[in-house]
Amino acid sequence: MGPELVRLDQDPRRHHRSPAQQARGCRGGGARRRHPRCRLPPRDRQPGLRTERLLLRPYAAADAPRVLDTLGRSEVIRWLGNPPPAPMADLDEALDWIDVRRQREAADQFDVTRAIVVRDTGVVAGKVSLARAHRLDTGLFMGEYEVGWWLHPDSAGHGYATEAARALIDDVFERGLAEVWCGMYVDNDASAHVAERLGLPFLGVQQDPWYEGDSRLYRVTRDEWLVR
Ligand SMILES: CC(C)(COP(=O)(O)OP(=O)(O)OC[C@H]1O[C@@H](n2cnc3c(N)ncnc32)[C@H](O)[C@@H]1OP(=O)(O)O)[C@@H](O)C(=O)NCCC(=O)NCCS
Repeated sequence: MGPELVRLDQDPRRHHRSPAQQARGCRGGGARRRHPRCRLPPRDRQPGLRTERLLLRPYAAADAPRVLDTLGRSEVIRWLGNPPPAPMADLDEALDWIDVRRQREAADQFDVTRAIVVRDTGVVAGKVSLARAHRLDTGLFMGEYEVGWWLHPDSAGHGYATEAARALIDDVFERGLAEVWCGMYVDNDASAHVAERLGLPFLGVQQDPWYEGDSRLYRVTRDEWLVR
């Protein structure tokens, strides 16, 4: 567990439930064990950013099957991290993935992960995020945040990743962040096209400060973003 994570049993949101509710468990089912999805707030109370076609909202437990169906695919996860993570194996892992992101945002308002929802259909196309980047050599967070994106393959080719990332970057700069980084595998052409469509200034192919090996690196300051 990383240093920024809040232990579940210290999460103040758990105490919103009355003692009677806590004793009943999440479905009021007597002595049944509380399901992990109860850690998460109901979807209808969650905030969201709207764009022309998309809603960007925090993930909810109900999204776990879709997360699993996306991060369980080697063609998606092969581009995420260096070395890439193992494909997601089951729903419990997907629920943990959602929960960890909620905890990270509770600890840092700029550490945000949003489900990209197509407003017309309600389909969760993928995710867009800003994440604290930890230096590979020291493991330290130096105030650098990395924007990232992935789509389920059935939702690629519509401009959703670009539209979502533009809105998220707008939002974090409006809320006071000074700069955003972006890095990717040198041969990740699809992701590079997203960065270029966004107009992120390209720094070149360089030793990646946060992951093994070289990456295509981009960095944009708030001032550059506002005048682009
Ligand atoms: C990277 C990734 C998100 C890019 O997906 P994408 O669909 O190409 O990106 P966008 O959603 O921005 O869509 C852009 C494409 O939609 C097309 N498009 C179709 N209709 C569009 C519309 N109405 N508006 C904008 N673009 C549209 C664009 O022309 C573009 O296609 P092109 O690149 O062939 O020209 C996707 O390939 C992916 O999930 N890869 C695996 C994970 C990954 O690599 N993540 C990044 C790690 S750094």
